[in-house]
Amino acid sequence: MPTPLIERYRKHLPLEEGDPVVTLNEGSTPLIHSPRLSERVGAEVYLKFEGANPTGSFKDRGMTVAVSRAKGAGAEAIICASTGNTAASCAAYAARAGVRGAVIVPEGKIAIGKLAQALMHGARVIALEGNFDQALEIVRELANKHPVELVNSVNPYRIEGQKTAAFETCDELGQAPEALAIPVGNAGNVTSWWAGFQEYGESPILYGFQAAGAAPLVEGHPIENPETVASAIRIGNPARWEEAMNAFTASRGRVASVSDDQILEAYHWVASSEGVFCEPASAASVAGLLAHGLPVADGADKPESVVCVLTGHGLKDPDTALGKAPAVTGCKADLGAVEKAVFD
Ligand code: F0G
Repeated sequence: MPTPLIERYRKHLPLEEGDPVVTLNEGSTPLIHSPRLSERVGAEVYLKFEGANPTGSFKDRGMTVAVSRAKGAGAEAIICASTGNTAASCAAYAARAGVRGAVIVPEGKIAIGKLAQALMHGARVIALEGNFDQALEIVRELANKHPVELVNSVNPYRIEGQKTAAFETCDELGQAPEALAIPVGNAGNVTSWWAGFQEYGESPILYGFQAAGAAPLVEGHPIENPETVASAIRIGNPARWEEAMNAFTASRGRVASVSDDQILEAYHWVASSEGVFCEPASAASVAGLLAHGLPVADGADKPESVVCVLTGHGLKDPDTALGKAPAVTGCKADLGAVEKAVFD
């Protein structure tokens, strides 16, 4: 049985003595060598498949720490704004901790699997007539006014927990990769990975990727009406803007954008070529590597090993998958017809 993150990396995590460990055995996700992507990119590429976490995304790493601390501090309710995955994770850990959970999501803009998760785990799900940025603004005010713990990545314990993805990767490879490719939305995750690498004394090049219609960090200003098929990263004003930009600069990396077509192409390709099914937002990291390669500063060596973070599971968003996949082949219940359907 995998050991909970908090047990494995306790000395790196700021929990207090007596805090309960609220866990679903998150972390220990597969680091999968990716031969076809390696060939296309010209470096050894590994996929860190965060979709293998208990609720199907990397959010669980931060949630176990944030909810354990909240519970230790006596919280009776937790709340978040979310494009879907934080909501699913918040709802699951609230159930596990025996506290109330509430999630505010942009109406009609979250993948159906995430909605099903949040509802099944018993959270109060509020569909906001607005986008994620508005939801986060409201929920921050709400948490100031009421005795409820905010578990978005503005909560420092979320960042602390998510550092463990960098620890695991370094522990498994025996050192840090020379570069990391990662999708960027609210910019908490890239902040966490960088903090984790720094804590291990490592400084790989960070390549961050945003969807072109929701790329405030690339454009250098907030986007009022962000739009992208990758609903998880449909964010126009990232909360961890400064930290993320500092990390890109310090790592000699960069943030770039990829179009929805490039995201959907990479999403389908990585599922059909490498056997790894991630959600569209996650595929932004693959799309980014394919579209932009591995740019380096003048005189620097091109990285020879890259970890590409696949942040969430493909099953979260069956609607987008079925919209992109080829059609099903219908067939009569008859051997000849099946032979024809299979082999023709
Ligand atoms: N990939 C997926 C699948 C996500 O759900 C998110 C963020 C990101 C990437 C970007 O990570 O925000 O730390 O830069 N999802 C949040 C949510 C916003 O509400 O589930 P980030």
